Amino acid sequence: MKATIALLPGDGIGPEICAEARELLELVAEKDGHTFKLKEGLIGGCAIDAYGDPLPEETVKLCAKADAVLLGAVGGPQWSDPNAKVRPEQGLLRLRAQLGVFANLRPVAPHPVAAKLAPLKTRLLKGVDILFVRELTGGSYFGAKRREADAAVDECRYTVTEIERVTRKAALLARGRRAKLTHVDKANVLETSRLWRSTVTRVMRDEFPDVAVEHLLVDAMAMYLLTRPASFDVILTENLFGDILTDEASVLAGSMGLLPSASLGEGRVGLYEPIHGSAPDIAGQGIANPYATLLSVALLLRHSLGLETEAARIEQAVADVLDEGVLTADLSRKHAVSTREAGEAVRKRYRKLA
Ligand code: NAI
Ligand code: MG
Repeated sequence: MKATIALLPGDGIGPEICAEARELLELVAEKDGHTFKLKEGLIGGCAIDAYGDPLPEETVKLCAKADAVLLGAVGGPQWSDPNAKVRPEQGLLRLRAQLGVFANLRPVAPHPVAAKLAPLKTRLLKGVDILFVRELTGGSYFGAKRREADAAVDECRYTVTEIERVTRKAALLARGRRAKLTHVDKANVLETSRLWRSTVTRVMRDEFPDVAVEHLLVDAMAMYLLTRPASFDVILTENLFGDILTDEASVLAGSMGLLPSASLGEGRVGLYEPIHGSAPDIAGQGIANPYATLLSVALLLRHSLGLETEAARIEQAVADVLDEGVLTADLSRKHAVSTREAGEAVRKRYRKLA
């Protein structure tokens, strides 16, 4: 197949991890007979330095024409002055809004090597395979904000349409997995949660009778995520609850360097990125863990290009090299490999599997 992929390395370790992603995409194209046009653009701090704008018009155009966008990370101390008018993160928020990506997918399936680093008992982590679907463009993050004399207001608003579209996305994904959807809300207190609960219930009953649904309150869920994580398949929730619960869930995986994400909308153009930031403390040293970014490439191939075989092969290759003990410094103090070595190990494994 032919596809155009926008590559936005961004700041800090972004360029180092994206270089590995580029080489992996080139390998997939070569091995499996695809033509990927990889086009690089600026976003975040580097774009502020070059254009005074964290999301320059050129990058917007590049992404609008692409089939998918792969992003490294944005931000760093040199652009973190709280009084600055433009900040790197604004580029990312604007890009998400431009692409209309309302569903944020975060798979959490800890590899045994990483699970050893997690503070939880190994027994609890056995069989954990969760897919979070977080609503990304509504709720209190996007509602009206205002300051009163000695008060502040963040409005939380959701429309039925916003809830329906993300519910359908989550339900379709559940259908391709273990057909279980856990919807998380605070329906005993919040009116928006009551709308979520009735809408999710209706959509699932009318359109997805084959998918089992349960509703849990977010405070209880915060506990269950650590006491019985293996009991969940797809977890659907609104923006704020999703932000908090996905960070909590990253503890299950042991290292931030292993978790990919996909943000999807109605169209096929998706935004793919590792969940971690630009790691300025280790940037430029060639020691960052590239696996989360390579796993994000797998999600890109699966969700935007429909290349399931290639996606599964990348996931297998990463699992295999972790099994073999090819570990970056965040995963191992002894015998840590460099970013390049980790990327090369995955490519070598991919060639064997292809
Ligand atoms: P961070 O995720 O960049 O780093 C947290 C810790 O994890 C650091 O010790 C870092 O070295 C380590 N780490 C992260 N990714 C790693 C990797 N791939 N391999 C090895 N170690 C890794 O979060 P932090 O330090 O809070 O933020 C740094 C900058 O990144 C800030 O400017 C922040 O705004 C930005 N940021 C950007 C995000 C994005 O672009 N989506 C998300 C989160 C933060
Ligand atoms: Mg967060």
